[in-house]
Formats: sequence, structure tokens, C-alpha cells
Amino acid sequence: MDSSIFPKSFAWGAATAAYQVEGGWDADGKGLNVWDTFTHQGGDRVFKNQTGDVACGSYTLWEEDLKCIKQLGLTHYRFSLSWSRLLPDGTTGFINQKGIDYYNKMIDTLLENNVIPIVTLYHFDMPQALEDQGGWQSEKTAGVFEEYAEFCFKTFGDRVKMWITINEPYVVAKYGYEDGLFAPGKKEQGIGAYQAAHNMIKAHAKAWHNYNMFFRNQQKGLVSIALDSDWAEPFDPNSTTDKEATERYLSFHLHWFAKPIFIDGDYPEIMKSEIFKKSKHQGLQLSRLPEFTNEEKVKIKGTADFFCLNYYTTRKIRPRKTTHDEPSYSSDMAAEGIKDPNWPISSIEWLAVVPWGIRKLLKYIKDTFANPIIYITENGFAQSNPASLEDTQRWTYFQETLLEILKAIKLDRVSVKGYLVWSLLDNFEWISGYSARFGLFHVDFHRIDLPRTPYISAIEYSKVVKRNGLTKPMECFGSPHNS
Ligand code: BGC
Repeated sequence: MDSSIFPKSFAWGAATAAYQVEGGWDADGKGLNVWDTFTHQGGDRVFKNQTGDVACGSYTLWEEDLKCIKQLGLTHYRFSLSWSRLLPDGTTGFINQKGIDYYNKMIDTLLENNVIPIVTLYHFDMPQALEDQGGWQSEKTAGVFEEYAEFCFKTFGDRVKMWITINEPYVVAKYGYEDGLFAPGKKEQGIGAYQAAHNMIKAHAKAWHNYNMFFRNQQKGLVSIALDSDWAEPFDPNSTTDKEATERYLSFHLHWFAKPIFIDGDYPEIMKSEIFKKSKHQGLQLSRLPEFTNEEKVKIKGTADFFCLNYYTTRKIRPRKTTHDEPSYSSDMAAEGIKDPNWPISSIEWLAVVPWGIRKLLKYIKDTFANPIIYITENGFAQSNPASLEDTQRWTYFQETLLEILKAIKLDRVSVKGYLVWSLLDNFEWISGYSARFGLFHVDFHRIDLPRTPYISAIEYSKVVKRNGLTKPMECFGSPHNS
């Protein structure tokens, strides 16, 4: 048996996000979102004060993106809707038809080309008008998000069958409301991230129920949420304190969202007890971690039809020494993640390349969350600018990662149903601007026509897609204990 082949009907894709590729920031009635505001404010928070005003120009160059997708032979394409392009002030009070037209064109042409759309409702770009009313820190936003989701299900759900409500709530909460590194740039340590996460979980659950109640029977689609997670293991495998720190690290990141949604509607016990303990020590009566009511727990539990995993890297974990005097997420978690110096680093400092981490993480998700169907909705490696089209090293990483996924499927029996590369195109990499290139296609940002050119990785990936397997046949892996 040739072990290099993936299961039948495996989904092969690539992903993008509206703010990172579309440009057209004020075109045709689009409303402002928090990234428009954040980048326009300057202040060196983004590499060279770059913005997504033009980005890859996908708002006008969609046909060029479609050519890339066809050249790769993808079965699936994941993209996000710009909330404020559709609803300029975030609410259904005013609907921008031009936005609907744009996404209709994308969806229709994808389907004409036998490519299945996977649509994310929110990928970091909260409408500014809603942020002005508290954004994710306001409970009201959960209700407004439900209306937005309902509007999208109604408008596009006859053709879109795979929905992702929120991309990486961890990143939004931690970088947007705790560290202030990402838009909206709020630095409310030990409080902001917990509030934002709380309302995002509620928003997700509301959107899922809305679909379940009003659309599922007719439209027969699936709804999930995309969770990012590192693989994490103890710095010293024999150290009890390192093992405990690893448990905290996973609880404060993956389980923060996955436990309520996939298991029981509530936060991990470790988060609850650690944050309560530290809040008390800081003189507070109540925990800084908000609580779900029993009714909310029932509503949150079981609100994902499949598991979307965004995997980039791995860390070795040990306790972080903290005083606990100042409230912060980091001191609540009291764990730090270390990169092994032997791991290659991509062009982005946090992205140590650890392909074997994905296999371990997939097996962990299978065992922890009752063997869900998993789509890897993002995985990728950045090159620095200027990037060579001959990215053979990067393609080696991709192959190594795919091999680990094959092992997870065939040896560990994990139900992985799809793999999507981040990203289709080089694009606006948040605070790194255009300095980090994640694309399968190179984009020349200096030229007005923003031409797309395939890297070697694109050419090789298209062969994998076509063969539904790695390009070299392999002997059978052997027994499930081989690695
Ligand atoms: C995000 C993408 C981002 C990628 C690489 C993920 O956190 O979903 O928007 O570009 O990682 O940093």
C-alpha cells in the first residue's frame, strides 16, 4: 500500500482574510473597520506604518486570485467577509449592495470552477462603529454579531456550506485587548482579553444556534470557529512543575475556547481557579474572569460542527515567575513558552518551524475533544522580503508537515479532512506589514497591477493536490507505533 496518499475527498485549500488582501478600504461605500483606524493612526505600531489600504488589491483583482486558485487545482478556498464592507456601521440598519455583489461574484465563480468556499465571518476586522461602542468588550456586540451572521446565512447560505464564525478569538482577545499590539490597540491587562473572549464565545454560540434553528434544515451546511494553538510540551519532561506549566499553557490558550465550545460550556478549571486566586490576592472580590450563567453554558456547549485548527508552531514550557501583584494574562497563566534553538525560524521571529508538533497536537485534539472531524484551516511559513521564488526550503517544511498529517491520519487515526495553506498570496501580515511573505504566490507590491507569480511551493503544492498525496510514493508506515 502506498502511504503517501491522503483519504478520498480530502479538502485541499488555501486561505486569506479580507483586510489582508482586499484593499479598497473606502471603495463603494465600505465602512471603516478597526484595522483601517489602527493603521491610519501610524505611530510605528505596524512595520513602516504600512496599511491594508491597497494590499493585494483583491477587491478589484478577484479574477487574478481565481487564476491562482485554479492553477493550484484547489478543492476549497477559505476567505473572510469584510463585515464593514457588507454592513458599513456593523448593523443591518444599512446594507451595502456593492459588498454583496463582490462576495456573490467570488462565491459564484468559485462554484463554477468546482471550488468549495469556506467563509469566515470575522477575521480581526471589527467595524469601527461597533468598536466605538465597546467592540468585543461589550456584551451587545454578541447580539449584533448574531444579526450579521444571520444576514450572511440568508444572503450567501444557499451556496456557502462551510462557515467559520470567528477566526482565532485568542489572537483577537490577547493582542487586541490585553497587549494592545493589534487593533483596536487596547491595553487592559488582566481584564480586556477575558471580557473580549467572553463575548466572542457568546457571539459564536448565538450565530451557531441561529444557523441551527433557521437555516440548517434547508441549507444543510456546517458552522464552526477557527482556533489557533501551538503544540506545547514540558521543557523538562521529567519535571512536575514544567508539566503543570504546560497544562496551564494549553488551558489558557486552546482550552479557553475549545472547552466551552466542544465540551461543557464552561472555562477550564485551571483558568477559573488561577484567575480567582490572583484576583483575590489583588484585593478584588470577584474574579477578573467573567462567569457564564448555567443557561449560557447550555447554549455554548456543542456549538461547532467540526474542528478548525490553525497550527503554526510549537513551544517548550516552563513556569514563569511572577509576583501576582499586577493583574495580567501572563501572570495569571504563569507559564512561558521557549523555542528550542535547534528549530529553524521562519522570517517571523515567533514562527519556529516544527512540523512534528502538528501530529502531536492533532492526536491531542482527537483524545481531548471526542475525536472531532478536523480541518487544518491554516498552516504556513513566512519568508522575508525580498523573497526568492525558489523557496525550496519552505517547500521542504510543507512536505514535512504533510507527512506528519498523514501519520496522524493513518497511524493515530485522527479524522483530518482537509488542509489549507496560509496563504494563497503574500499579503498584509498585520503588524509585520508586507515584510513577511506567507503566500504560495508572490505579489509584487511595487507594481500598480500587483502581479501574482507562483513560488516553487505553489507548483509543488499543485502536484500534491492533483495526486491527493505526497509527490513521492512511500512504503507503508507499518504499525501504529512507528513514527
Ligand atoms: C491569522 C492570519 C495571519 C497568520 C500568520 C493567523 O494568526 O489568522 O491572519 O496572517 O496567522 O501570522
